Amino acid sequence: MNKIIDKEIIIEKQIFDNYFKVLLSKKLNKSYLDKVMLYGTLNGGKRIRPYLIKQFSLLKNVKSKSYLRLAASVEIIHSYSLIHDDLPSMDNDNFRRGKPSVHYKYNEAQAILAGDSLHDLAFEILSDQKMNKNPLIRSNLVYQLSKSLGAAGLAGGQSLDLLFENKNAPISKIKKMYEMKTGALFNFCCTGPFIISKANKKEIDFAKRYGQFFGLIFQIVDDFMDVYGNKSSIGKTPGKDAKQKKSTILKHLNSKKLNIFCKKISSEFIKSNEYYLHKWPKLKLLIFYLIDQLD
Ligand code: IPE
Ligand code: IPE
Ligand code: MG
Ligand code: MG
Ligand code: MG
Repeated sequence: MNKIIDKEIIIEKQIFDNYFKVLLSKKLNKSYLDKVMLYGTLNGGKRIRPYLIKQFSLLKNVKSKSYLRLAASVEIIHSYSLIHDDLPSMDNDNFRRGKPSVHYKYNEAQAILAGDSLHDLAFEILSDQKMNKNPLIRSNLVYQLSKSLGAAGLAGGQSLDLLFENKNAPISKIKKMYEMKTGALFNFCCTGPFIISKANKKEIDFAKRYGQFFGLIFQIVDDFMDVYGNKSSIGKTPGKDAKQKKSTILKHLNSKKLNIFCKKISSEFIKSNEYYLHKWPKLKLLIFYLIDQLD
């Protein structure tokens, strides 16, 4: 099953990348900063968030024109977060997606500004009339994305990640930090298509929970790969979390225990969301797809 999903993700990445390149080349074709921004967005990436957005869009017949634009705004935000995450004052990584990271290829000031400008570009694209004719839907998308990025979401989680360096944060706090720095944007990936399709409140609440949980497991897999992956497969420098004394879940659980932990929280999640995961079985499969990477 893993191989089928792997293939599907690669195909979807190509479809998304074709759209993304055209959209970005229309917007970013003038300045030096445009060039830095293009590098930080088109330098690879699995495009897992666009993939998840499409999965949720298919459940509700959201049109490709809408979900591709939504996915572009999310992937632009994700790119901004990676550029800033790699900065010397944050994780200080020179290598990203198998290439020099943005500040290393250009310089730190341009990388900061490229991140800032990508953040703004994402909202420009999301709030454009082309996103959706209904201004209430557009403003709700902007509202939800803003909430997922600020102090209670991605940026807040990144702040905790840095504050927890050289500390032995307990699993409960690490879990919360993962849900913020990574889960919050995944939450938006799942709720966004449901907002567009005017899904009911219960369905939107489920999408929120699913995205948050998917992001949590996704970050656990990322931290696992930092310990057990290799440079060419992850496209990043492995072993950097331990070197920087990050508080990751791997500090508490070895690979066997981590596997058991993830299976336990997944079966709890599946049990308490049985109705929707039975209705939309692909979503259940995607959780197993992530967990299988811990083997
Ligand atoms: C890396 O995200 C940062 C995390 C939130 C774990 P991805 O693993 O999705 O990075 P790319 O986009 O594929 O490079
Ligand atoms: C980053 O987590 C999460 C973000 C929100 C950017 P990491 O610092 O573990 O991501 P990588 O390993 O550098 O991609
Ligand atoms: Mg980091
Ligand atoms: Mg990092
Ligand atoms: Mg990592």
